Amino acid sequence: MENGITIEQVSYKNAEQARILKACLEIWFKNPKDLNLTAPKMTYPFHFNRWIADSYSKDNTLTYILKKDKWIIGYMSLQLQPKKDFIHLFHVFIDRSFRGKGFSKLLTQKAISYAEEENIPAITLFVNPNNQLAINLYELFGFKKIGFSKTGSLKMKLEL
Ligand SMILES: CC(C)(COP(=O)(O)OP(=O)(O)OC[C@H]1O[C@@H](n2cnc3c(N)ncnc32)[C@H](O)[C@@H]1OP(=O)(O)O)[C@@H](O)C(=O)NCCC(=O)NCCS
Repeated sequence: MENGITIEQVSYKNAEQARILKACLEIWFKNPKDLNLTAPKMTYPFHFNRWIADSYSKDNTLTYILKKDKWIIGYMSLQLQPKKDFIHLFHVFIDRSFRGKGFSKLLTQKAISYAEEENIPAITLFVNPNNQLAINLYELFGFKKIGFSKTGSLKMKLEL
């Protein structure tokens, strides 16, 4: 990709990658608002072991990082479903210093490309209904608002 930007798949099962991700997430989520928007079920302060236990203990997730000149500036995960009828997009995050530059679009596009390549017909996600910035991002790609979760998160879906 241009400007030294790359998207790489990473795994918490790889000890070195897990160490780097832990360091990165601990810095990003010193900000309680960012933790809440990214992972609403998690309580502040951020605990890496809880992050793993809550979302990455099963073998059904793919995690991608966005790098600029080897620096991790973004993060996104996909939860795969056994029936392959949809994928669930979660934990989307762009480092504060790199926001408003279109980087989240690269991650969203990656999720869409993955679904297309695997012939998965839909992508779902939950977003805080007050997070208009993220809602704008997803609407840009054609995600539609389809309801609310029990805890009040807005559910959006993209049909491919
Ligand atoms: C939401 C988030 C991922 C957006 O990342 P970003 O890289 O700054 O967003 P982008 O620059 O790629 O912008 C993508 C689109 O989002 C919307 N957007 C971005 N910044 C915006 C702003 N300041 N005001 C209004 N809309 C904005 C726009 O629709 C924009 O597209 P456009 O530039 O063509 O209008 C980022 O702000 C973030 O990490 N927030 C904290 C965690 C979070 O909210 N995650 C989402 C969980 S569902």
